Amino acid sequence: MNDDLLQQSLDSLRHATSEDELAGWYRDVLGRKGTLSEAMRTLGSLTPDERRERGRQLNEVKTQLEAAFTARQDEVRAAALDARLGAESVDVTLPGRRHPVGNLHPITAMIREACDIFAHLGFQTVEGPEVEYALYSFDMLNIPQDHPARDVWDTIFINSNEKEITLRPHTSPMQIRTMLKQDPPVRVVVPGRTYRYEAQDATHEWHFHQIEGLAVDRHITMADLRGTLAEFARQIFGPERKVRFRCDYFPFVEPGVDMSIDCPFCKGKGCRTCKGSGWIEILGAGMVHPNVLRNVGYDPDVYSGWAFGMGVDRLVMLRYNVQDLRSFYANDLRFLAQFDRARM
Ligand code: PHE
Repeated sequence: MNDDLLQQSLDSLRHATSEDELAGWYRDVLGRKGTLSEAMRTLGSLTPDERRERGRQLNEVKTQLEAAFTARQDEVRAAALDARLGAESVDVTLPGRRHPVGNLHPITAMIREACDIFAHLGFQTVEGPEVEYALYSFDMLNIPQDHPARDVWDTIFINSNEKEITLRPHTSPMQIRTMLKQDPPVRVVVPGRTYRYEAQDATHEWHFHQIEGLAVDRHITMADLRGTLAEFARQIFGPERKVRFRCDYFPFVEPGVDMSIDCPFCKGKGCRTCKGSGWIEILGAGMVHPNVLRNVGYDPDVYSGWAFGMGVDRLVMLRYNVQDLRSFYANDLRFLAQFDRARM
């Protein structure tokens, strides 16, 4: 009977693997209403001799169980500590995890590279507001209210009723702002966002980027324009690049031109990218219109100048042979990370 009690209790103690189970075992076995206390209570019905003998035995069982409990408690606590240390352990031999470092967006990178090239040619980089007066976006650029050419710039107006304020449809209003602020000589480039109310497809976005260029001084000629832009094209698209100017019309220049480079993919032979022509148009330009010079208070008999405006997105597409303009704005890191300069 005593042996049974001892043995059974020791067995069940071995199954206790947590503090809770230990507490439960203690309550059931050694607690005030536990099996041992119960056994003690039966002593009263025994004879004095039997009682002495049985009492001694039960006390011994109690001592043993208490010792066993303490020992088991130590074991359980040690195991718990082991498990915790195991879970929290750090493998110091693992190679470190690399933190991903971002890279410049290809359009930002192109803007910086372009402005750098122009800086070496003597041009200062300035920036202007994206929300712009129609006065600067159009009127002072020799495009009055009902001039049919306004339709060329599918403009988003902030206040569609009065049509006084635009999301600038080109960076050209910065020609006006720059000239109003200073006297010649002027040599600036203006990178920035531009907006047009336009259906989107692989080559059109309602939001894109331009770089405007403006040079005004005495004796500035078209030859300076050609030299500057040819140098730029060669630095961006390779030293053997040829440039071609053709007549084009913009109300704020006279004469107006557009500039093409010989296709960097087929070297002018004709391919899909240049639609078989061998040439790719990259910008509009021309001699600043006398009316524009007059509008900002420059004397067109003393000063002359030229301006150009090019699409940055276009340049990046050409440089890296990107087929869909929308990729630049989809923010897919798998696409953007390919332009990591450190890995190119
Ligand atoms: N602003 C014109 C456009 O967006 C480009 C341009 C700029 C043309 C400067 C001539 C001179 O189409």
